[in-house]
Amino acid sequence: MSTVTKTISFARGAPSLDIVDVEGLKAAAQAAFEVDPGGLTAYGTSVGYLPLRHWIAERHGVAPEHVIVTNGSMQADAFLFDALVKAGDEVIVELLTYDRTMLSLRNRGASVRMIELEPDGIDLDALERALVAGARPKLAHIIPNFQNPAGYTLSLAKRERLVALAREYGFVVFEDDPYVELRFSGERLPRMLELDPENVVYASSFSKTVAPGTRVGYLVGPRPVIATVAQLATEVYISPNMLAQGIVNQFARSGAIDRSIETVKNALHERVQTLTGALRRELPDARFVTPDGGYFMWVELPEGTDVNALFDAAVQRGVQFVKGTDFVLEGYESTLRLAYSGVTPAEIEEGVSRLADAYREITAAAAV
Ligand SMILES: Cc1ncc(COP(=O)(O)O)c(C=O)c1O
Repeated sequence: MSTVTKTISFARGAPSLDIVDVEGLKAAAQAAFEVDPGGLTAYGTSVGYLPLRHWIAERHGVAPEHVIVTNGSMQADAFLFDALVKAGDEVIVELLTYDRTMLSLRNRGASVRMIELEPDGIDLDALERALVAGARPKLAHIIPNFQNPAGYTLSLAKRERLVALAREYGFVVFEDDPYVELRFSGERLPRMLELDPENVVYASSFSKTVAPGTRVGYLVGPRPVIATVAQLATEVYISPNMLAQGIVNQFARSGAIDRSIETVKNALHERVQTLTGALRRELPDARFVTPDGGYFMWVELPEGTDVNALFDAAVQRGVQFVKGTDFVLEGYESTLRLAYSGVTPAEIEEGVSRLADAYREITAAAAV
């Protein structure tokens, strides 16, 4: 084994620094202080920095009362769960799903029902069977675009059918959509929020379009839901971070955000092409669906491949990924999530080569 100097991480769902517009953020900060020093330095209001709330509302074609801006969309998720989910309530999530969401629901005592995820999104036949059999969820948490961890996207037909099922059976769809702007191929699909604004609560974030360190995210939903969340927000923190939201507001209004999204999308596209090419060449046993956007790709290895052994062999070679087993309660022992957001094409080539070497070692050992 060669001497490894630098760890290559396919583990973190975060951008590499080269695709963060640091100069644009500095300019936005300068402008924000010049334009509104009072607003940036005061406590502000629990619904967020008002000019940013307006900008988001305009982008979604809704009145500002439908929007609350929070400290990252994780905070928005937490407030929404506090508002809508009581201990013992049933909540639908995708099987696979974002591990922090699952933890957050479990910590609130929710009864989490996982429904299989397919390459075109949640299995709605399975969901309907559960509903017909008597399941009465309060909420369905869905990551519609370039899902974390699978990279899959919910088809239009399934979006329409899901909102219809939600109406029929009286549950809210929570559309958790931080990756929507990062589509680099295929056609943009309507948000479920647009399909049924009265029964969908929508969350998104500036973490993927500007930078995760801003910690600015938001909810769009029916006025009463937003008002309840605003009340909770007041009790928790008076107001979210006005400095960060003021900077994001300038970054958005100056158009820098659109340039940033282009930079990120182009980089992600190149990275995914490099990743799929390298996997086909170096690790032909790997099965995957090439994502149309976002940060993640799900990889299935032949049944019987021990992802724990692969993980250890990979770490020894200075390469990291997240085991598929981390996103589920059981099973998925031969799967892994590769995040390509934080690695350059050269690192991807090198990382896949190390991963393939690790795979060869564990399959040779298993064959003995
Ligand atoms: C599906 C999903 N929801 C929410 C978040 C959290 O986003 P934020 O940085 O806005 O808190 C992430 C971050 O990776 C995510 O993948």
